[in-house]
Amino acid sequence: MHRIIGVYPGTFDPITCGHLDIISRASQVVDKLIIGVAHNANKSPLFSLEERVLMVKQDMEFLQKKSSMRSEVEVIPFNNLLIDFVIRNHAKVIIRGLRAVSDFEHEFQMASMNLRLNSQIETIFLMATDKYQFISSSMIKEVARFGGDISPFVSSHVMDKIKSIHQST
Ligand code: COA
Repeated sequence: MHRIIGVYPGTFDPITCGHLDIISRASQVVDKLIIGVAHNANKSPLFSLEERVLMVKQDMEFLQKKSSMRSEVEVIPFNNLLIDFVIRNHAKVIIRGLRAVSDFEHEFQMASMNLRLNSQIETIFLMATDKYQFISSSMIKEVARFGGDISPFVSSHVMDKIKSIHQST
């Protein structure tokens, strides 16, 4: 049987409930979802690649326990061109979440470039759910830095991880 494999790429610094929403919904449209955790040195992430991968894996265990995943899932770090990572993993589609109009231009550029690099790979966009329209990893880190409550936006172990960084600084 022909299985559709999708890649959901991101920096996940850290993974948020907004990402989890997209992941569980994406799992309804593909047979296998690969979460590609980008090294992304451009962004100078707060968490190391290993830490980000671990946080994503822990959140996936949680989603699977809640039976929110309809497909197989795998978490894989990458440090190369997204389209090469997609091909190497035999995927057919790239999944991206769209929050607000402000995401559109960047996403449009990335999707167009990726299509130009390989016309066999499509990008599929899922609209973020209302309650997660406004969150981003940076905003969550900033709220945490000033002692705000981030519990509605990240899982409990991600929250503990962020808190432990602020306690040690
Ligand atoms: N809920 C919450 N936040 C969301 C979200 C959602 N549904 N969707 C996106 N975001 C946020 C992220 O938290 C992140 O916030 P931050 O900027 O505050 O950290 C931001 O939106 C977008 O980040 P991310 O999803 O990590 O995407 P990106 O724009 O940084 O792109 C890659 C990351 C990995 C997809 C891209 O850099 C890439 O493909 N890299 C590989 C190299 C390559 O192929 N480059 C050419 C691409 S054409």
